[in-house]
Amino acid sequence: MLINGFNMQYLDQGTDIPLLLIHGYPLSRQIWLRQADGLAGVARVIAPDLRGFGESDPLQGDSTMDMLAGDCKELLDHLGLKGRAFVGGLSMGGYVALAFARLFPERVAGLILAATKATPDTVEAKAGRDAAIQKAMLEGAPGIAENMLPKMLAPASYEKKPELVEEVRQIMNSASVEGITGALVGMRDRTDSTPVLQQIQTPVLILHGQEDQLMPPSTAEETHRQCPTSELQIIPGAGHLLNMEQPERFNEALREWLLRQRR
Ligand code: MLT
Repeated sequence: MLINGFNMQYLDQGTDIPLLLIHGYPLSRQIWLRQADGLAGVARVIAPDLRGFGESDPLQGDSTMDMLAGDCKELLDHLGLKGRAFVGGLSMGGYVALAFARLFPERVAGLILAATKATPDTVEAKAGRDAAIQKAMLEGAPGIAENMLPKMLAPASYEKKPELVEEVRQIMNSASVEGITGALVGMRDRTDSTPVLQQIQTPVLILHGQEDQLMPPSTAEETHRQCPTSELQIIPGAGHLLNMEQPERFNEALREWLLRQRR
């Protein structure tokens, strides 16, 4: 589907509660397959490939979190979902979900923040983005994947779940260089979303892996403290990609929360 000047691929599966799920960096809609299957009876899962990721075309230039949120809102419009939807994101997808809630509050029934945070990049993190941009331009997606893969899952998953490790590597390798560099600039320059947490009127579900090596669970505890409408669940046996590592636990937490919001 043509969205804001590029061809966007997306998953649209299930019926009932509209649930937009936004992937992290440098990933794709493939990370949400276990949610689309597991929540089929409860939710209509809509999961885009953000510009330059998965099978969506890249665009030249920066991908700000606001632009990515705008792409997601266009997708919902194109699908005829012009009322409220539940909006969830993992990691960078969470930054986009928070931008979505700031830009289009009238379209949000509730937020799901998985393995993410509201605070902006530190000076050190910004320097890391610049180094990653150089690496992506020299080595492409495989160079970025090689660096990030050892931190994406809980330490035990690398021995116990080799298929999952390979699945994540393949997803990362599907990203385009433009998608990667655009998102790195967008993440580096993103604004502080803490005010969104404090002002949001709708319910917020925070899910975090207990063994997240990229963002410790204390990040999620801080988000929870800042957000009066939030609930927090820390999921054991999971790292950064908690929805892929512990899909049953993740889906159960999300299903129970979604059904409670609908009552
Ligand atoms: C992600 O998983 O989306 C990224 O690691 C987030 C980040 O780099 O800040």
